[in-house]
Amino acid sequence: MNRYTIAVVPGDGIGHEIVPAGMQVLTAVAAQSNFEIVSDEFPFGAGYYKAHGDFMPADGLDTLRKFDAIYFGAVGLYDVDDTLPAGMFTFKIRKEFDQYVNYRPARLLPGVQGPLRSKTSDDIDFVVVRENTEGEFVQVGGFINPDRPEGMAMDTSVFTRRGIERIGHYSFRLARRRRGKVTNITKSNTLIHSLAYWDRVIEEVSTSYPDVSYDKMYVDNAAANFVLRPELFDVIVTTNFIGDILSDLGGAIMGSLGLGPSGNINPEKKHPSMFEPIHGSAPDIAGKGIANPIGAIWSGALMLEHLGQRQAAGMIVRAIEQTLRQGVLPVDLGGKANTAEITEAVVKNVREA
Ligand code: NAI
Ligand code: MG
Repeated sequence: MNRYTIAVVPGDGIGHEIVPAGMQVLTAVAAQSNFEIVSDEFPFGAGYYKAHGDFMPADGLDTLRKFDAIYFGAVGLYDVDDTLPAGMFTFKIRKEFDQYVNYRPARLLPGVQGPLRSKTSDDIDFVVVRENTEGEFVQVGGFINPDRPEGMAMDTSVFTRRGIERIGHYSFRLARRRRGKVTNITKSNTLIHSLAYWDRVIEEVSTSYPDVSYDKMYVDNAAANFVLRPELFDVIVTTNFIGDILSDLGGAIMGSLGLGPSGNINPEKKHPSMFEPIHGSAPDIAGKGIANPIGAIWSGALMLEHLGQRQAAGMIVRAIEQTLRQGVLPVDLGGKANTAEITEAVVKNVREA
């Protein structure tokens, strides 16, 4: 029997509600399948920072390294400086474990009334593949005399050939398993060094995949097309910053940020990958029991797929779809079901599958 070890990190805010929900579903699926999940929970995050002055202990990365995967909620609290979590936690993990793919599917699920009036599930079904370890988010920069009239601040983007090539190859291979189309989204007409280089390298990679159709689009036009013509997209390959924004827009056209899943993936499986919903810790609704757990539950499905349990992953996605079709809708989709009710419905649909 296959046995997977999972480090569970709820984080902050609604992480404590949606991650346990996802674990309930994962446990139910494992019971129906021929694998076992062994988990250990860690209290890392902004709450931990308030108590200990860091987001995880000094040996936190070494602790996480021993697991097959990390199942994460979100970090961030109102009373903790919001410039800290990225550098001290999220990016630290993504970088240390070389999780260079940020995989974010967007799909209009059955039973969900999306905000785009005329679009159906056939029109909204794409994946944003976001480069996850370099680009605009490397946090290389500084301040010069910030409190003086001549104050200055600077951030630098870093793009490497190796970094661009590997995200390119991942995207084209993914497109082969989907509808065979890659759209490269940048802004190389204004960022004429870094993003023009990105375009050049992605285009070079594209020549190895003559069976995949390739085109490129500027991000301003792409933002409009997410709303007007989402059917144009199958696999989107893009940079860290652009991907961050476009994937929230993807979540929005699905009907709610609460639905979107993601994987921070090390495709070579040399290090653990990390799976988390696309949304944050939602402190405005934390503790109320009304958070939508579907993004977290679906992230659990992405985790199982990465671990090689494709069939079990499919069971979770079908159970989510069935739940929505049955009209069990979370508050953020205009429904009345709370976190526990949605989770129970998904678990029931898994058991009855
Ligand atoms: P957010 O995603 O936490 O919330 C945005 C809005 O969506 C809020 O109104 C929230 O109530 C709603 N929402 C989000 N997830 C929901 C769910 N599952 N069910 C129902 N409603 C949901 O983003 P925001 O407000 O910009 O950030 C809040 C905190 O989260 C900040 O500290 C931010 O830095 C952090 N954050 C952390 C991320 C991570 O850990 N990967 C990602 C994004 C934000
Ligand atoms: Mg984001």
